[in-house]
Amino acid sequence: MAQRAHTLTLIPGDGIGPEVTTAVVKVLDAAGVSIDWDRQDAGVMAFRKTGQTLPVELLDSVKRNKTALKGPCATPIGEGFSSVNVGLRKALDLFASLRPVSNLPGVPSRFQHVDLVIVRENTEDLYAGLEHVIIPGVVESLKIITEAASTRIAEFAFAHARREGRAKVTAVHKANIMKLSDGLFLDSVRAVSRNYLDVPYDEKIVDAACMHLVMRPEQFDVLVLPNLYGDIVSDLCAGLVGGLGVVPGANLGAEVAVFEAVHGSAPDIADQNVANPTALLLSGIMMLRHLGEHDAATRVKTALDAVLSAGAVRTRDLGGTASTTEFTHALCRALA
Ligand code: NAI
Repeated sequence: MAQRAHTLTLIPGDGIGPEVTTAVVKVLDAAGVSIDWDRQDAGVMAFRKTGQTLPVELLDSVKRNKTALKGPCATPIGEGFSSVNVGLRKALDLFASLRPVSNLPGVPSRFQHVDLVIVRENTEDLYAGLEHVIIPGVVESLKIITEAASTRIAEFAFAHARREGRAKVTAVHKANIMKLSDGLFLDSVRAVSRNYLDVPYDEKIVDAACMHLVMRPEQFDVLVLPNLYGDIVSDLCAGLVGGLGVVPGANLGAEVAVFEAVHGSAPDIADQNVANPTALLLSGIMMLRHLGEHDAATRVKTALDAVLSAGAVRTRDLGGTASTTEFTHALCRALA
């Protein structure tokens, strides 16, 4: 039977983005998935060409195609344009960030048996970008938490846990100090938990959660967090299983899904052909499943596991010497 071609948006992004997206496109092609890529610039590259970091053509493309694979986009620190990533999530109402964190065969890490999922609220909290100078030397930054967004992300987390047969949901918060904002988040998650009595539920204060994560990560399953804690804890969890080069993610809304790795544009290694494309490839595997391409997803994952387990071809972040292109060729050979 002829395979259905997918038209998907491809956002190469900045820094290592073009290198890792090129790698993933090659591997998906080697897996025989028929995809027409609608390439769109974002971030620095888009700004140079159009004067905008998030061009309307890009947003239209994602809305039209419903699914995108995205490389990282850089955000200047302290000054310059606001985050393309935050802008994209807000513009497309990609309210849930889903980041599965688990060990990969052959990837050195401090822990084994890590298998957890981070569910990060993606649209509000301190990422609302509402900050201003009150008087010189005094700045106010607004943390926005709403019952609607907290309930929506909690629903997402519990529904995911039930569907995937996960052992429990843990709400991560700081409601002892931020009694109103994190208090509202926690109350909203608790209310949703009462509709999911078959899914065990507990709560952890964010600082204690970090300590427990680095002591005994296997006690966690689904973590649901407001935006900022979700961002920080995601990188911490990447460190549990081998680093930022191996943790995928998806930004999901009611209509649209954008798949991207947890890592950023890694300017320290950009244009050197050393970046690990595994995190974006795992995001690509999540994308294939989202598209119903389960056979292809399984084939790509099997090839990735085989190359990583064999250990002969590994990128530098995993202790190897292979370039991005050598690792990509090894994956394509494993799929042949
Ligand atoms: P980063 O994730 O880019 O890099 C942190 C460290 O991890 C660096 O040493 C880097 O070399 C390494 N690393 C990251 N990905 C890797 C990979 N695939 N293979 C091998 N090593 C890898 O974080 P950083 O430096 O804080 O941010 C750089 C830029 O990326 C900033 O402008 C930031 O705003 C942006 N960023 C974008 C994200 C996105 O587009 N979703 C997410 C996080 C950061």
